[in-house]
Amino acid sequence: METKTAKKPWDGRFTAGTDRLVEAFTSSIQTDKHLYLYDIKGSIAHCTMLAKQSIITEDEASKIIMGLKNIKKEIENGTFLFDDSLEDIHMHIEARLVQTVGQAAQKLHTARSRNDQVALDVRLYLKNELLMIMESLNQFKKTLLSLAKKNIDVILPGYTHLQRAQPILFSHHLMAYYEMFSRDWERFHDCLKRTDVLPLGSAALAGTTYPIDRDYTAKLLEFSKISENSIDSVSDRDFIMEFLSAASICMVHFSRLSEEFILWSSYEFNFIEIPDSFATGSSIMPQKKNPDICELIRGKTGRVFGDLIAILSMMKSQPLAYNRDMQEDKEPLFNSVDILKSSIAIYTKLLPEIKINTKTMEQAASKGFLNATDLADYLAGKGLPFRKAHACAGNAVNYALARNKELHELSLDELRDFSTLIKEDIYEALTLKQMINRRNSHGGTATKNVKAAIKKAEKMIK
Ligand code: ARG
Repeated sequence: METKTAKKPWDGRFTAGTDRLVEAFTSSIQTDKHLYLYDIKGSIAHCTMLAKQSIITEDEASKIIMGLKNIKKEIENGTFLFDDSLEDIHMHIEARLVQTVGQAAQKLHTARSRNDQVALDVRLYLKNELLMIMESLNQFKKTLLSLAKKNIDVILPGYTHLQRAQPILFSHHLMAYYEMFSRDWERFHDCLKRTDVLPLGSAALAGTTYPIDRDYTAKLLEFSKISENSIDSVSDRDFIMEFLSAASICMVHFSRLSEEFILWSSYEFNFIEIPDSFATGSSIMPQKKNPDICELIRGKTGRVFGDLIAILSMMKSQPLAYNRDMQEDKEPLFNSVDILKSSIAIYTKLLPEIKINTKTMEQAASKGFLNATDLADYLAGKGLPFRKAHACAGNAVNYALARNKELHELSLDELRDFSTLIKEDIYEALTLKQMINRRNSHGGTATKNVKAAIKKAEKMIK
């Protein structure tokens, strides 16, 4: 059986080659090849700094940089060969560099270790993804806002315990999601601050003996800060845990929205219709139109939670500093970035396309005693203590229920049997419009409030 394989950077210390099974097991190239761009960017900056500090010559630096740029082209046009024996993207690029530019290439890894190199690549990757995620989340928030603005007159039942509770503006409901996704945006923005720190120059764990200029490298790579402790910088994956926490919470919000769309598009609710282009049919039941997209987002949410748990568990028992366990950070991170990005993209396109069945929503808000609180409030407004008013309205609901009527369908005489405080103006108080507009406490559903909230949001988001 063949055991001796490709040359390794550590061959000097070893007498036997790596077993093929071990090579396949330790290789991460299929995952981390997606970092090639950041690896090359980082190496170019590192090399530029080495030359500025006269650690390598300008001539060597320009050869290395030219070589790195060619490798980028090879990867992008598909001619670059990936092979498990070269473990990861860092070793692939370095090996190819030695092949193409020779001697000079062997100097690139001066004052650097794969430990600070991989930390750098992941930070560069996540910084870039975070900026894109924040931008697309903003677009999605704008979509929520314009839908809220367009449907400002639509009323639907608000629910607690999934039981009809009180009427609310559909726009108020949408603006609840606007608040949720705004907090998500802030969490990503916050995570960006702690991702935006340069670890390069920490080397294996203890720093380096070479006269490097880390601030210069940070400037070249557009990092706002450099890390303060070399041990921490090579073993810190907090920024990934933070991102996955923020991503998990954001996915909870998409999942809740999905759940509502699934319910609302059912025959039972019939509040919305999902456009054909965002639905699927059944292979057996011809009548079916299924909300698979929403279900998939709800389903994929669990995978993002799983990614967070994977990283938390992977980190919790590691002694300082770098351990190979950390190689396992990339798959969960990339997976969650992909799920999050596609969820945002799907919802940004789907939202303006949903058909809103305003009539059904309004009818639902008019049935099921959603005005019982307003009857109690009316009585309390006329001087009855609220607890008594509540009991009185409860009795009226009971009476109406037995007669298959709504409160506003009872005659004035019937209503006055429960309290003589009730006058003709009760009917006005029990209309949807009144119920909505009287809830004008800050953050309440009154049309005036919701319009103001939309305006304020529009100003903030630009
Ligand atoms: N592929 C490794 C990772 O992703 C790179 C760092 C390897 N460092 C080492 N000392 N073996 O973590």
